[in-house]
Amino acid sequence: MIRRPLLLAAAAGLLAGVASALVLTASPNWGGAPPGNQTSAGQALIGGPFTLVDQTGKRVTEKTFAGKPTLVYFGFTSCPDVCPSGLQVISAALDKLGPRADGITPVFITLDPERDTPQVLAEYLKSFHPRLVGLTGTLEETDAAAKAYRVYFRKVADVAFPGGYTVDHSSFMYLMDASGQYVKHFSHTVGVDELAGALAAAL
Ligand code: NI
Repeated sequence: MIRRPLLLAAAAGLLAGVASALVLTASPNWGGAPPGNQTSAGQALIGGPFTLVDQTGKRVTEKTFAGKPTLVYFGFTSCPDVCPSGLQVISAALDKLGPRADGITPVFITLDPERDTPQVLAEYLKSFHPRLVGLTGTLEETDAAAKAYRVYFRKVADVAFPGGYTVDHSSFMYLMDASGQYVKHFSHTVGVDELAGALAAAL
């Protein structure tokens, strides 16, 4: 009973990752929403405007984070293993950068706003890096943010989780530049050195 949801979640994460990777190269309209921003040819249609609430309860938009590169990662706090590993890699990469990490804003956006209130996010992120910003909102708001970033996710009934459901989701980190334009993305399995190097290069 313990292993089953973990394995299923891991398999779902892998499948979702593959699906999303295909989407990134094959189908810019997958996800059902128009692109979050219109960019010139050759740039990925990832990112765009959003309005959400941070872990202190403050309303924020993409403009709140303008002026510094962001590393945007979507997930949910009840995620058994994929999100924690991604957040650990992000935290380790930020630690590796030392004081230079102040030049990057790491952002964790929940795909499960029903359970992930600002308070839940604040408590959860204490286990990772102090600079991590947690974002939530209404279902419509987090759904819109996920669509802007081409994130696949789906609520799936599972009695092993609180509330009786889990969330299958793709698991990529999106590096965005100081003006909010997509730079590149990484799997949650990216190495700490590789991620830290990319973050340093973006500063
Ligand atoms: Ni997850």
